[in-house]
Amino acid sequence: MTATLDRPAVDTADLLPRLLTGDSELAAHRARFGPLPLAPFTGTAGRRRLVEGIVHAGLRGRGGAGFPTGRKLATVAAGRKTPVVVANGCESEPASSKDRVLLRYAPHLVLDGAALAAHAVGADRVFLCVERGTGHGERLERHLDERRDDPVRWHVVPVPRRYVASEESALVHFLNDGEARPLASPPRPYERGVEDRPTLIDNVETLAHLALIAYHGPDWFRAVGTGSDPGSALVTVAGAVANPGVFEVAPGTSLGEMLDAAGGPTEPLGAALVGGYFGTWVPLPQAVHLPLSHDPTGPAGTTLGAGAIVALPAGSCGLAETSRVLGYLAAESANQCGPCHFGLPAVAEDMAAVIHGRADPGTRNRLRTRLGVIAGRGACKHPDGAIRLVASALDAFAADLDMHLAGYTCTGLRQHPVLPLPDPEDRDREWR
Ligand SMILES: Cc1cc2nc3c(=O)[nH]c(=O)nc-3n(C[C@H](O)[C@H](O)[C@H](O)COP(=O)(O)O)c2cc1C
Ligand code: SF4
Repeated sequence: MTATLDRPAVDTADLLPRLLTGDSELAAHRARFGPLPLAPFTGTAGRRRLVEGIVHAGLRGRGGAGFPTGRKLATVAAGRKTPVVVANGCESEPASSKDRVLLRYAPHLVLDGAALAAHAVGADRVFLCVERGTGHGERLERHLDERRDDPVRWHVVPVPRRYVASEESALVHFLNDGEARPLASPPRPYERGVEDRPTLIDNVETLAHLALIAYHGPDWFRAVGTGSDPGSALVTVAGAVANPGVFEVAPGTSLGEMLDAAGGPTEPLGAALVGGYFGTWVPLPQAVHLPLSHDPTGPAGTTLGAGAIVALPAGSCGLAETSRVLGYLAAESANQCGPCHFGLPAVAEDMAAVIHGRADPGTRNRLRTRLGVIAGRGACKHPDGAIRLVASALDAFAADLDMHLAGYTCTGLRQHPVLPLPDPEDRDREWR
């Protein structure tokens, strides 16, 4: 098995791969799957059957929260105005490459899924949102040139490269007013989104699974994964593993098996970050058997989240890594709500004091108090995700925290950073 961060590798289990079959051209894709399966779902009853099929399949969103896709489809379909569909392919998560790999290697599965989702909810337009300057917009335009008979109008939308610009209300704001900052809720996009219409926003991987369900049926979909989190899932595995890349796995697979899929550790590991930068740290080797899915598990409530796993060598400092990522997340906020304007910078300052040996006796309690008051107070979930990462670091690296609070400066500061962060030069400063 070979893989790089921008080339897919596949699990060797009998029933996988499902998504990463490598049919990037339309002819090969149609040869494998046949025509877009609209015929079985014609008319109002057919559309309802499609939504019910997705509900029965138990598909859950692959964009981070694992929300049931069928429930969202049913809500949008019941709206009074003609809905629109937004495919979220921005993938602003720095530790993740899965959506980029999917768009590159199975673009027509994503496009089929978006067209079928539009059909299911009665939408006639689909907005394909991708990060600006990545080449995905241009590639999608080329693929769409070959799909002029699709029953929807396609709009490829390059979005500013900022972490929170791909949050769902930020995408709606961008499509309506040209500014990619999150909006206060309610209403949520599924009630009133683009042009005040009910708006279905789904991650591109979610849409690709939706297409597979329409082709093969809900029972086929449920043949892998767990009862409450069926199907396969793409995960990006990075850090101290022999063969970092994007892998297709079944939810319920253990953390150790996922690391093995990526060639196994290259050195003794101290922890893994699971779920991306809104995820949780889990200690290794203790958590090696932890089964990963979109259902919370283990003491930290770990989930697959955005499908990114980073293996941390035992010699690296998880607190220093967390501090660095928190600094990034704090700087990437839209800076328009209290928890982002005051809370995240204050927590970032405390974390920096800890790892530089500048902490005072009150730092531990102050950190815990601050984390406690930030949750649930922002217009979007950005601050909640950022403090979930910090809270889990304080637990997973409790012994290191004690040492730092006793005045030891972090040896991890001299190590090569493990958690990837984008080059600031490659990011947009503006929201438009
Ligand atoms: C700060 C922030 C950034 C997000 N970035 C992405 C992203 O890059 N891609 C994505 O699919 N979802 C992202 N989400 C989640 C979306 O808001 C939304 O829940 C998701 O696209 C819904 O799709 P799903 O139900 O298929 O998971 C982000 C959420 C937050 C709070
Ligand atoms: S919570 Fe933070 S990122 Fe979200 S809208 Fe408010 S300021 Fe922006």
